[in-house]
Amino acid sequence: MTINRFWQLDSHPQGNDFAAALSMQHETLSPLAEGEVRVAAHYLSMDAGTRMWMTPRTDGYQPPLPLGSKMVGLVLGPVTESRDPAFPVGAMVRGFGQWAEFTTVVPALSGLEVVDPTVADPREHFGALGMNAWTAYVGVHEVAAVKPGEWIAVSAAAGATGSLACQVAKNLGAHVIGIAGGPDKCRFLTEDLGVDMAIDYKADNVAALLATVPGGVNAYFDNVGGPILDAVLPNMAHYGRVAVCGMVAAYDSDVALPGPARFDQVLMRRLRIEGFFIPDFLHRGAEFMPVLRQWLDEGKLAMRFDETEGLENVLVAYDRMLSGKATGKVIVKVA
Ligand SMILES: NC(=O)c1ccc[n+]([C@@H]2O[C@H](COP(=O)([O-])OP(=O)(O)OC[C@H]3O[C@@H](n4cnc5c(N)ncnc54)[C@H](OP(=O)(O)O)[C@@H]3O)[C@@H](O)[C@H]2O)c1
Repeated sequence: MTINRFWQLDSHPQGNDFAAALSMQHETLSPLAEGEVRVAAHYLSMDAGTRMWMTPRTDGYQPPLPLGSKMVGLVLGPVTESRDPAFPVGAMVRGFGQWAEFTTVVPALSGLEVVDPTVADPREHFGALGMNAWTAYVGVHEVAAVKPGEWIAVSAAAGATGSLACQVAKNLGAHVIGIAGGPDKCRFLTEDLGVDMAIDYKADNVAALLATVPGGVNAYFDNVGGPILDAVLPNMAHYGRVAVCGMVAAYDSDVALPGPARFDQVLMRRLRIEGFFIPDFLHRGAEFMPVLRQWLDEGKLAMRFDETEGLENVLVAYDRMLSGKATGKVIVKVA
């Protein structure tokens, strides 16, 4: 009889007070149903987008997580039991599971994938080869469609998705402006990622600095929305593209916030704005992976990990990620 520990969503969190809204629970694992797979979580991925699932909003890209459910998140680890021959016991897999020691899923419903065991650091399946990397690649290469020599701005640039978007854009020959909170993150952007301009949105005048970009900003990879988007729009080049990846500035709100104040600039500058959601692209992994793997092996795509140990510390890690205390990818080592 195996006991599983997991985090349960009891109520909708207020701001970052996750301890009041989630609790650690125990269960006895039941036998698998036909088609199910059980995974022992070695690592959990902390993702900003999951914050919206904790709200009662029904107009998001995912329905709200019902109260009383296990909290959902990306999991990486070996299969321990299987009733699906495509996922044999021992295979290392990644997919949407639960904040738990053991996660039980139907593979097709959780995007479960066997990952490449030849990757030296398995954390890279949450890093340069993970969902954030796929998001960065699709957003920069296809949605923002950045060309060599163009200027692209990236918000939440020192986070998981943003730091990869900066690197993908550099690898594609663009000039990169990273926007992040605080001097340490700006130093990381210039010294480690090699961006051409770093803007500290907590201290600098974002609009005034963007106004110095020669010819304007050709593309914007937006992770944040809110006031930063309002600072970028009037500084876009004509025919610029905005890839709407995320709106983390508003994820802890139970209702949608008002749209951009400078929406007029979409017409004045003939901009194209397009939202994209990586689960729509999961079938194209075989196309993205060789590019990402080559960049990883060549040292052109790297992830800084912010690792917290222990399932009992998940809420600390989640807060580190959302409140901007962490640089790079926030993960929890479970086993
Ligand atoms: N469309 C998709 O399919 C997809 C897939 C993955 C991720 N995303 C999006 O990508 C974004 C980043 O997600 P992630 O998981 O990689 O998290 P992350 O960037 O590693 O962490 C979140 C970051 O957001 C910044 N932030 C938080 N509140 C902010 C605010 N009010 N204003 C400005 N910045 C704020 C913080 O950085 P600072 O210290 O700089 O404030 C924090 O480090 C999210 O919007 C997420 O929804 C979208």
